Amino acid sequence: DDAPMKATLAFDVYGTLVDPLGIAETLRGFVGDRAAAFAQAWREKQLEYTFRRGLMRRYRDFDVCTREALGHVDARFGTRLSPAAVDALMARYLELPAYGDAVEAVSNLRELGHRVYAFSNGRPDQLLQLLQFAGLLELLDGVVSVDPVASFKPDPAVYRHFLEAADSAATDTWLVSGNPFDVIGARSAGWNAAWIRRDPAAVFDPWGIEPTLTVTSLMGLAAALPRH
Ligand code: LAC
Repeated sequence: DDAPMKATLAFDVYGTLVDPLGIAETLRGFVGDRAAAFAQAWREKQLEYTFRRGLMRRYRDFDVCTREALGHVDARFGTRLSPAAVDALMARYLELPAYGDAVEAVSNLRELGHRVYAFSNGRPDQLLQLLQFAGLLELLDGVVSVDPVASFKPDPAVYRHFLEAADSAATDTWLVSGNPFDVIGARSAGWNAAWIRRDPAAVFDPWGIEPTLTVTSLMGLAAALPRH
């Protein structure tokens, strides 16, 4: 029959449900016209710090990585942010805007019978705040952070941790992510993965490990998931 398969959907958070570049709006008050470039550099450095801390086995949580990345980018741009500005930006990082399709898509998918989780590098308490602010928390079956593993995506250990936490088999599990490195990490761990390619100009890493499917928005997911 044509009934949708019941899957466990693990939604990445930063870059999939909420937009980390949305911080540019707040940044504009502190760094003016360079806000968009600053936000992009901050996000890239934040991820680099997670990758490096994972490899070095020197875990500090995502909040620390984000704050230290802000310090680096502040020094690089010569923007001399005051401690109060840093605190204000870090506070706004808990109120990042949800993508316009997030609430509707997650509720639809849940109504179709899928189990819906958030799965993120974020610190557990901050994920709850962020998802609450975005209006997503109440829609979810659970929130799984990498923090208990003391490592970050794409360490295979964090994908294993999710499967245990959600009591799901890899073959029934879908990562849903706008971040190619995360999609490749999940596929490499034996999961299915949907790449949310919001920007048609976005390029996937040419590693020979492909997303199971690619859609241009979260709303495209319900129709694209396999049926049996
Ligand atoms: C997360 C990172 C990948 O939410 O943005 O896990």
